[in-house]
Amino acid sequence: MSQTVSLPATSSRLALTDVKTPNIQSRGLNFYFGDGELRKQVLFDNNLDVMPGEIVIMTGPSGSGKTTLLTLIGGLRTAKEGSLKVLKQEMVGASAQQLVRLRRQMGFIFQAHNLFESLTAFQNVKMALELFDFSQQEMRTRITETLTRLGLGHRIHYKPDSLSGGQRQRVAIARGLVHKPKLILADEPTAALDEKSGREVVTIFQELAREEGCTILIVTHDNRILDVADRIVNMVDGRIKSNVYVQESAKVCEFLQKCDFLRDLTPRTLVEVADKMFREDFSSGDTIIRQGDPGDKFYLIRKGSVEIEATRNGETKIVAVLGEGDFFGEMALLTDAPRNATVRAKEQTVLYALGKADFLSVIEQSPTFEQELRKSIFERQ
Ligand SMILES: Nc1ncnc2c1ncn2[C@@H]1O[C@H](COP(=O)(O)OP(=O)(O)O)[C@@H](O)[C@H]1O
Ligand SMILES: [Mg+2]
Repeated sequence: MSQTVSLPATSSRLALTDVKTPNIQSRGLNFYFGDGELRKQVLFDNNLDVMPGEIVIMTGPSGSGKTTLLTLIGGLRTAKEGSLKVLKQEMVGASAQQLVRLRRQMGFIFQAHNLFESLTAFQNVKMALELFDFSQQEMRTRITETLTRLGLGHRIHYKPDSLSGGQRQRVAIARGLVHKPKLILADEPTAALDEKSGREVVTIFQELAREEGCTILIVTHDNRILDVADRIVNMVDGRIKSNVYVQESAKVCEFLQKCDFLRDLTPRTLVEVADKMFREDFSSGDTIIRQGDPGDKFYLIRKGSVEIEATRNGETKIVAVLGEGDFFGEMALLTDAPRNATVRAKEQTVLYALGKADFLSVIEQSPTFEQELRKSIFERQ
């Protein structure tokens, strides 16, 4: 049986072995500000899964609903429609007490740092630990370690008004991390930081994700830190528009680029093509394309292999075996003729498919693409 995996899905890296529960799971999540005539919907039917250990970056235009979604996940406001599970707790309809308990397991790093001006950096960070049963000694160690790690070892006992903007931001970050939360929600955490401090912060995020299985959701426009993301989620007008696994997308682009007729596309166009492709999984023996059927998709083999079987003049034989990085299915799309062969999976096989309309629009963008394709079809016939 073929299985089309549509987003949201778990990260493919994790999906191979993973049976863990997502730390964030939303289904059909809607959110409105205001009541009655003034009621305005700002989130529409949002579906998102984020696994333990995953770092997700959320981007999107201002006003698209990123902060609203982050505050819903953080239990700072509540939605009434759809489902939102955070650390296994259903947030839609949760009691105030449940939300408080849940918030303790999270770390918040928000744009407005909200540091207490009358308290030192040390005391500000300590606020985050006072909800827990740490000894004074343990608190001291954790606070000092975290601030030092963030390059503030020499500013531990300074008050916010004698710290620079970047240093204040790092105190806010220390406060969000010091209790080693299971989930970190960060809204533009590196915006006020220079390149080096920004890098240090995301390195800490990566360690927390890797070593503690912490889930980290970062809203950012800082393209200097995009490389830490396992996945990039793009929000437009209150809807998650794309949800891309970075490693997979890079691999798909690498394969696409090796294809003669895609070689001339710019990296940006390649990424756009990769974004439009969707994953399909097949088991050994599954038929992917049947000779005589109309063509509706173009395929890239991500993993595994397929055999191509053609019947010509009443004789059926295997004409080719294709493996990782190979393509098939383009001919019927270009010529509008029926499929001229049957394609079957030879083993457990992962394909990325591009729908006919998207395929044809890529061709329109690239004259060489069309030329090359026609040439390669010509040579094969
Ligand atoms: N407290 C609020 N009351 C009413 N509308 C709000 C409030 N906060 C945000 N909005 C509106 O909700 C939409 C999404 O805002 P927001 O989540 O802050 O977007 P982003 O973080 O992507 O810039 C915007 O249209 C904004 O004007
Ligand atoms: Mg915002």
